Amino acid sequence: MIMMNTKKKAAGRRNKVFFNKGRQVDYNALNEARDLLNIYFPLKKDMLIEYLHLFNDKYNGLYPKHLRALAELSKLSMSEIYEVASFYAHFHILSDDTEIAPDITIKVCDSITCAMHDAEKLYHNVKLKYKNFRVEKAPCMGRCNFAPVVEVNHNHILKANNSKISNAIRDKNLSYKNDPFINFKQYISSGGYQLFNDISAGKISFDNMIEVFSKSGLRGLGGAGFPAYKKWQFVKSYKGPRLMCINADEGEPGTFKDRYYLNKDPHRFLEGTLVAARIVEAEKCYIYIRDEYYGLIKLIEDQISILEEKNIISEGYLEIRRGAGAYICGEESALIESVEGKRGLPRNRPPYVAEVGLFGRPTLVHNVETVYWIREIFEKGGDWFSSFGRNGRKGLRTYSVSGFVKNPGIVLTDAGTTVNQLINEHCGGMLDGHKFKGYLPGGASGGILPASLGNIPLDFDTLQEYDCFIGSAAVVVLSDKVDMKDIGLNLMRFFEDESCGQCTPCRNGTSMAVKLMSEKAWNVKLLTNLSKTMNKASICGLGQAAPNPLQSIIKHFKKDIT
Ligand SMILES: Cc1cc2nc3c(=O)[nH]c(=O)nc-3n(C[C@H](O)[C@H](O)[C@H](O)COP(=O)(O)O)c2cc1C
Ligand code: SF4
Ligand code: FES
Repeated sequence: MIMMNTKKKAAGRRNKVFFNKGRQVDYNALNEARDLLNIYFPLKKDMLIEYLHLFNDKYNGLYPKHLRALAELSKLSMSEIYEVASFYAHFHILSDDTEIAPDITIKVCDSITCAMHDAEKLYHNVKLKYKNFRVEKAPCMGRCNFAPVVEVNHNHILKANNSKISNAIRDKNLSYKNDPFINFKQYISSGGYQLFNDISAGKISFDNMIEVFSKSGLRGLGGAGFPAYKKWQFVKSYKGPRLMCINADEGEPGTFKDRYYLNKDPHRFLEGTLVAARIVEAEKCYIYIRDEYYGLIKLIEDQISILEEKNIISEGYLEIRRGAGAYICGEESALIESVEGKRGLPRNRPPYVAEVGLFGRPTLVHNVETVYWIREIFEKGGDWFSSFGRNGRKGLRTYSVSGFVKNPGIVLTDAGTTVNQLINEHCGGMLDGHKFKGYLPGGASGGILPASLGNIPLDFDTLQEYDCFIGSAAVVVLSDKVDMKDIGLNLMRFFEDESCGQCTPCRNGTSMAVKLMSEKAWNVKLLTNLSKTMNKASICGLGQAAPNPLQSIIKHFKKDIT
C-alpha cells in the first residue's frame, strides 16, 4: 500500500503520527523494480535470492527504496526480505537511498592457502590504494592452487599482486573468464547422453543401476562419503513426487575440484545429474552454484539452454540457483532452505532430506563430482572404478592440493594415496626453501596432521583414529615457514564468520575460541572444554567440526603454542 505523508493528529486512541506507518514506497523505485523483475511476474517466494541478485548487480547494492518496492510487489514482509538479504555476504545493504555505491568491488581471499601467500599484506595495500572502491576480505574462491587470489568485480586475478590488480582496473578487465571446455557437439560425438536416453527409454532399470554402482563403491564426494546407490534406494523408497538438488556450493577452504569438473566437461556433469534424477524419478532438479563461480553459472546456463533446444530435457527441468556468499549453504539442509528463498539455516534431523527435503518432498542431494562419475562408471563397469586404489583402499579420488608444493592443483589418482605420495609423485615436491611440516587432509574442517603422519592413506574412514577426516579431499600442505597459531586462528575465524548463528555452541563457541586463540599463550584447558561443547552440542557439521584444527594443533604441534 502507498502511504501518504501526514502529520495531522489522528482520530481515536492514537496520538500524533510523526512518520508514515508501514512501508513507504517510492514511485520511481517501484517502477525501477517493476522493470527489473519484468519477466518474473507473478513473483515467487522461493525466488527471493534471485530477485535480490538483480538489484544487487544493477545498483551495486541494495537500496532501502528497492527493498521496500520488492516487498510491495512480492507481498513479502520487509522483515522477511531484510533477514534474507542480510544473511548473505554478497548482498550489500546500503544504509540510505542517497548513498553512492561504488561500482568496483575488490575482494581479497583471506582463507588458509591465500593467507599463507601473504593475502593480508595484499589486502592492506589494496585497501589503502583504492579508497573509492569497496574493498573486502572474502573466503576461499576455489582457486587455491593460484594463491593469492583477488576478485575485481567478476574477474578473478590469479597469483595476484598490486600491478595485476591495477592493470585489471585500468583496462576495465572486470568480467569472468572460463577455461576452454568440451562442448555439446564434442560430448555427443563421444557417445554423450546415450546412457540418459537408454534410461529414459526404460532400457536400463533401477536395479541395473544399483548393481553397477554398489560394485563401484562410488560414495558421495561432497564430504560425507555416503554410498551413492544407497542414497538412491532411500530417496526412491519415499513416496513421490520427489526432487533433486545439485550441491555446487564448494565452499570448504582448499577445495576446487567441482569448479574444475564443471568447467572442463559440463555435459558429463549434466548427464550424470539427469541420470541420477531419472533413477529416483525426480520431477525437477535445482543446481545450486556458489556465486564465486559466476562464470560457471553462465556456462552451465548456456549448456542447459542447448539441452532444451535439442529437446533432451523439457524447459525448466534443470533450474540454476545462484548462491550469495554463505559457506553454510553447502550443508544440504541449509542449501535446501536457500533454494526455498530463505536464510541458510541447517535443519534439525531427523527427518533427513532424503525423506523431507525441498518443499517438504523427498530430495536427492548430490555433490557435483559424485554425478560427474556416473556415465564413465556405467560405461566401464563398477569393477573398473573399484579396481583403482592404493594402500588397501578402493576407487579414484580427486585431491585438490594447495600450499607449499611446487605444482599445486587437481590430482586425480588412487583413493588411499598418502600426502607424501601426493607431494613427491604428483606435485613436484616441496617448494624450494620449504620443509614439509604438516597438512590439512580435508580442508578447514578435517583437522591437521603433522609430517610424521604423512604416510596415512587418505580416504574416507582412514582418518577417524586421528580425529581427522578427508571430507572433500582438499589437501593443504604446510611448511616450516608457517606459524601454527596463525593457521589455527585463520581457520577458526573462517568458522566464526560462516557460522549461521542458529545455535549457541557454534555461534558463541567460535567467537570465544577466536578470542582465546588470539592470546599469546593458548589456554589449552579452556579451549579443550570449549571444543568438546562445540563438537557435542552444535546442530550441524560446521559447529561440530570447527574445533578439529584447534584440537589437532593442541595434539600434534604443542611446541608451537606454548
Ligand atoms: C558445513 C558443511 C558444508 C558443506 N559444504 C558442502 C559443499 O560445499 N559441497 C558439497 O557437495 N557438500 C557439502 N557438504 C556436504 C553436504 O551436506 C552433503 O552431504 C552433500 O552435498 C551430499 O552429496 P554427496 O552425497 O554427493 O556427497 C557440507 C556439509 C557441511 C556440514
Ligand atoms: S552448528 Fe553453527 S552453522 Fe550449524 S546450525 Fe549451529 S550455528 Fe548454524
Ligand atoms: S582461493 Fe584463497 S584459499 Fe582458496
